[in-house]
Amino acid sequence: MSLLIGLAALVSVVHAKLNYSLTQILPTYPNIEACVGLPVQYSCENTTALTDSCCNVVQGGLVLQTQFWDTYTGLESQGQLLPEGSWTIHGLWPDNCDGSYNEYCDLSRQYDPTPSPSTLPDGTVIPPYDGPSVRTFIQDFGRYDLLKYMDTYWINQGAPNENFWAHEFSTHATCTSTFDVACYEPGYQEHQEVVNFYETVTKVFQMYPTYNMLAAAGIFPSNTTTYTLSQITNVLYSQTGAVPYLGCYRNGTILDEVWYFHHVLGTEQYGHFKTLNSTTPSSCAETGIWYYERTTTSERVVSY
Ligand SMILES: *[C@@H]1O[C@H](CO)[C@@H](O)[C@H](O)[C@H]1NC(C)=O
Ligand SMILES: *[C@@H]1O[C@H](CO)[C@@H](O)[C@H](O)[C@H]1NC(C)=O
Ligand SMILES: *[C@@H]1O[C@H](CO)[C@@H](O)[C@H](O)[C@H]1NC(C)=O
Ligand SMILES: *[C@@H]1O[C@H](CO)[C@@H](O)[C@H](O)[C@H]1NC(C)=O
Ligand SMILES: *[C@@H]1O[C@H](CO)[C@@H](O)[C@H](O)[C@H]1NC(C)=O
Repeated sequence: MSLLIGLAALVSVVHAKLNYSLTQILPTYPNIEACVGLPVQYSCENTTALTDSCCNVVQGGLVLQTQFWDTYTGLESQGQLLPEGSWTIHGLWPDNCDGSYNEYCDLSRQYDPTPSPSTLPDGTVIPPYDGPSVRTFIQDFGRYDLLKYMDTYWINQGAPNENFWAHEFSTHATCTSTFDVACYEPGYQEHQEVVNFYETVTKVFQMYPTYNMLAAAGIFPSNTTTYTLSQITNVLYSQTGAVPYLGCYRNGTILDEVWYFHHVLGTEQYGHFKTLNSTTPSSCAETGIWYYERTTTSERVVSY
């Protein structure tokens, strides 16, 4: 008898917990019902086949997952630290098929407090945003898990993380057709696509554990040894089947960026990413590249 009472109590606890979590988290997915049965094709490869801009990336179809290797954040005193053993997220960029790109494509979704650039090529001034931060958009959807992940892996330098997230959404996601507001109808909830974009970026970032790929081949950050461009490129090529863009500053001697290129089949949210060679030559020198160790006090231990 006491066993039965115990079981009943256990079931009600599980039930209450489930109810709690289900009512707190709002879905963010787009509506892809109209995509079923359409031709299945990678972006930029046969654009005449791609007729629905919510079903395929018809604007911004050369998609770049970009990452940073910073050695400090500048906001260490506020607890803004870098994840030990991991590069950090820069964003998910929509280049046009020819490698050109657009920015700030929808000023009604401008959440960037410090727009960069501050004006569009046609002279339009991009108004700085001063409303509630995108952090509150994520909270409104109950996505504290996503927020924690972003505060761990999507780290700004010299300003709060949420400013960087806002910049990446308003600059880039507004130019990616599958994040258009119309793709979330009927029943669009304001900022749904913002949260959905952030989920998508973290998903694609996880396809490219740059630190671990390099470390597994013996390439570690070092303040005493330099690497060659081909050493780094060859490791990443061996795991992705494509040459990423590697970015270096100070005359190509200090590595701080990697960009992975793709064409995408279906939506950016749920479709298939095919890795492609970079369309941009590396800014790194052939030899003598520093992949610096971070300042020890700028890092925190993270779990994967
Ligand atoms: C489930 O959650 C709703 C909303 O928070 C609440 O009103 C309701 O009482 C909960 N039901 C149970 C069985 O806990
Ligand atoms: C491109 O797509 C169109 C429409 O689906 C199709 O008729 C055509 O054969 C495709 N072209 C190639 C080269 O695949
Ligand atoms: C970059 O290289 C050029 C030519 O060798 C040199 O003049 C310049 O000082 C270098 N710049 C830096 C920041 O090291
Ligand atoms: C990608 O780059 C590699 C290495 O340079 C080269 O061997 C390969 O042919 C390239 N692939 C394509 C599709 O151009
Ligand atoms: C390694 O060198 C970089 C660049 O000078 C510096 O910022 C960093 O603090 C150094 N890291 C360690 C652990 O010495």
